[in-house]
Amino acid sequence: CGIVGYIGPRQAGELLVSGLKRLEYRGYDSAGVAVANGTLDVRKKEGKVDELASLLKARPVHGTVGMGHTRWATHGAPTDVNAHPHIAGGGRFAIIHNGIIENYGSIKRRLMDKGYTFLSETDTEVLAHFIDDIQKETGLDFAESIRQALTQVEGAYGIVALSEDNPDELIVARNGSPLLLGVGEGEHFIGSDASPFIEYTRNVVYLNDGEMAVVRADGYEVTEINGAPVAKEVHALEWDLEEIEKGGYDHFMYKEIMEQPEALANAMRGRVHADEGTVKLGGLEDVMKQLEAADRIVICACGTSWHAGLVGEYLIERFARIPVEVEYASEFRYRDPILNENDVVLVISQSGETADTLAAVRQAKEAGVLALGVVNAVGSTIARETDAGVYLHAGPEIGVASTKAFTAQVTVLAQIALLLGKTRGVLSDADLKENLEALAKIPTQIREVLEQQAEKIEAIAREMRLAQNALYLGRGVNFPVALEGALKLKEISYIHAEGYPAAEMKHGPIALIDRFMPVLFVATREATYDKVVSNIEEVVARGGSVIAITDTGNRGLDDLAEHVIEVPKTSDAFEPLLTVIPFQLLSYHVAVMRGCDVDMPRNLAKSVTVE
Ligand code: G6P
Repeated sequence: CGIVGYIGPRQAGELLVSGLKRLEYRGYDSAGVAVANGTLDVRKKEGKVDELASLLKARPVHGTVGMGHTRWATHGAPTDVNAHPHIAGGGRFAIIHNGIIENYGSIKRRLMDKGYTFLSETDTEVLAHFIDDIQKETGLDFAESIRQALTQVEGAYGIVALSEDNPDELIVARNGSPLLLGVGEGEHFIGSDASPFIEYTRNVVYLNDGEMAVVRADGYEVTEINGAPVAKEVHALEWDLEEIEKGGYDHFMYKEIMEQPEALANAMRGRVHADEGTVKLGGLEDVMKQLEAADRIVICACGTSWHAGLVGEYLIERFARIPVEVEYASEFRYRDPILNENDVVLVISQSGETADTLAAVRQAKEAGVLALGVVNAVGSTIARETDAGVYLHAGPEIGVASTKAFTAQVTVLAQIALLLGKTRGVLSDADLKENLEALAKIPTQIREVLEQQAEKIEAIAREMRLAQNALYLGRGVNFPVALEGALKLKEISYIHAEGYPAAEMKHGPIALIDRFMPVLFVATREATYDKVVSNIEEVVARGGSVIAITDTGNRGLDDLAEHVIEVPKTSDAFEPLLTVIPFQLLSYHVAVMRGCDVDMPRNLAKSVTVE
């Protein structure tokens, strides 16, 4: 979910709605605002933020303090009633909440015994009434009642609360869901990230888990939930407003696909020195000795970042000869994983906020193991909690389907692998230089794919848009690309798709093959090319229709495949950086042609801060 808050001299309503639009990638099944102005005005609406905006046109709110929420449902269906803010105390105060209150059931029963009734099915409304009950029982002020309530709830939350009795302050608390304050002059902002207020201030204060803040127009105080004061540092943000806008493109996803050449150049800037044959990763300098000596690297991530991790496994094992395991963060954390002293946990996360991935970091630290992060969002929780790491510098990614973050993650993992290869004495200077030169060329080669294959890919999409199923196949380092290609398609076009290692096809998916199911192969001329061609033959022999990605100039598939998409030749190890591009574009066009909302596909969210 996305959270925004404002207190200061401006009218809050519009500011909240435009902030929610920017946070919409975090959840978009319903949205709402509360603004105080003598009384508390609450407006909420099922659907995207635009629906709320229309409601506010018809029924405006006035006031210079307020908060807003865009929801990704956990408890209770996405409806007007379940939308946030939730009110309590006879409408005197409201709260918005991101996360899950795990013990809400028992609290709710206690409150019902006392005669409380509930309008919604949400855990948030339970928390709101709980605060009210505490206030009534104890006579404590609003902030202190919230503090009391929070010491008794279990689970994850980022909350903002506003009361018509105290319209000069917003109460904010965080435990497991990101929240930061924007510090302006005579005004303060609250956000799940800085995007809602980036044009007003770049000075931010990150709240940590277990912290609470009372925010006024002219200042703020941060304390621990238990009451102890905390001194906070103000950080200056680097991003631009432009980076979080569509810049003339129809969709963020398309913009982000197209900006991969720059994003990857940024991920290598100051790091990859191809001419000298050196790679420098400042973020790892302090831990390099320990990393170099690792017996094993355990990579933990979710979604697309997990796919990047699979490519990372291949790269690190190949260049540095350190055994790597790749784990879904959600599985790792609950399996009582075996971590030895010389293991290193490396997490990959675009947002730096994914709850399960963050849990893996904490688990590593508890086990006394070095925890490293490959993260895009600067200052995010994972970036702050890991011992060291490498930022992607890919710029904000807004489209829910991850594109440039994936290629930037692979680029950074390649750099880590090459650096380790060098320091561990696996790679010669010549090998290192050759690989760095290949890596440095990738942005130009991606540009070539984007320019030269675009038309063909759109034409293929026109055929593929009618499919109900699709199979993506690849081997070796391109197997994760098959997984990622399938994920991209299902995420945004709702066509069922599966990714498989090409050879595994005969152990199951081959049963699905008919002329209606496109089979997409990554078939570049590398070590297993002949084997992949045999797999293509097997599909064709069963009447399947093949779309193949191969390297430029390979005419060997022309008679077999219905369509051949060409990508420039690079070092085998870096192929995913090029072979994934056509899959991204294909999914994009298919989804647009099917009339799907590319940037906000149903049921998904960009940043999943619940388990
Ligand atoms: C969500 C997003 C995916 C993303 C995954 C992991 O599911 O929709 O695009 O890959 O979370 O997110 P992270 O921010 O940790 O990379």
